[in-house]
Amino acid sequence: MIHSRILGTGSYLPTRRVTNDELAQTVDTSDEWIYSRTGIKARHIAAAGEQSSDLAVQAARAALEAAHVAASEIDLIIVATATPDMTFPATACIVQNKLGITNQCAAFDVQAVCAGFMYALVTAHQYIQSGMATKALVIGAEVFSRLLDWNDRRTCVLFGDGAGAVVLGASDEPGLLQAKLRADGAFAHILNTPGKVACGAVDASPFLYMDGQAVFKFAVKALAEIGHEVMQLADITADDIDCVVPHQANRRIIDATAKHLGISPEKIIITVAEHGNTSAASIPLALDTGVRDGRIKRGDTLLLEGIGGGFAWGALLLRY
Ligand code: COA
Repeated sequence: MIHSRILGTGSYLPTRRVTNDELAQTVDTSDEWIYSRTGIKARHIAAAGEQSSDLAVQAARAALEAAHVAASEIDLIIVATATPDMTFPATACIVQNKLGITNQCAAFDVQAVCAGFMYALVTAHQYIQSGMATKALVIGAEVFSRLLDWNDRRTCVLFGDGAGAVVLGASDEPGLLQAKLRADGAFAHILNTPGKVACGAVDASPFLYMDGQAVFKFAVKALAEIGHEVMQLADITADDIDCVVPHQANRRIIDATAKHLGISPEKIIITVAEHGNTSAASIPLALDTGVRDGRIKRGDTLLLEGIGGGFAWGALLLRY
């Protein structure tokens, strides 16, 4: 049986770091309000002209280097993004070109907003397990700052830009142990950006809309349920998990979910304070942070979990 394992991780944050205090100079908010409700202290914002593909390429190069894999060996690229460079072609094709990969590997985007990286990782795993690919670049990359109304304090303080990537390769040893992905389109109305390109204009609002309290309630319940489910499927308990790499939307959602799952706080990688919510980039950014600072070690059992617009959510158990 062919398995898939993470061979290397990488990430990239735009240079510009914007603190809560800096935001408070332009919108009616404060560091105290933002930090106490979300755990966010700062976020990184892409420079004008810097696109999701630019962030993705930087993260991908770091992951390839860590994996000791040449770009020419890649036979599948999946980019999870809700902020593609263009309506089409896929950002994955733009990334392929920027990386100089000319071997006609498969390349496409996955759109599951903040759950996108998990959807992309599971898809790459299936490609590898079926023998259709041997080395995949799986990337989460976002410029969510471009979807924000910077006068709307309810949303503009929450998000940031960035990218994270992994090289997933065929292996004799199991890497991805269990995964559950779910979606429920009946909740599209509580978190969305309705605008689309149509008939020569942007049709509907181009800004992110969120009912924060409804999202909060849905998120904690859904993540606790799916976390338990994936542990049951793998026949393991919370004690068997070495590290949790959650989607970094909000510190309170992360803490509440961990409590439901019986996971001790020191096992959780938290990057939301410095990254804000980077949507599809948040899990691979947190994963790379944990790998590079030594908290995540080879052989560790990891739980990845996250949720976002759709609603779409999931949980994955990995042997790193
Ligand atoms: N600064 C200061 N005040 C703010 C503010 C800000 N950035 N944003 C909202 N407020 C105000 C509101 O206007 C409201 O004031 P009012 O009572 O005078 O109308 C008050 O704070 C309370 O707003 P509310 O929306 O009820 O706050 P909350 O306690 O629910 O916190 C969130 C808001 C967004 C932090 C919280 O709902 C949350 O974390 N939701 C989940 C969001 C999330 O993670 N989304 C991504 C999922 S992928």
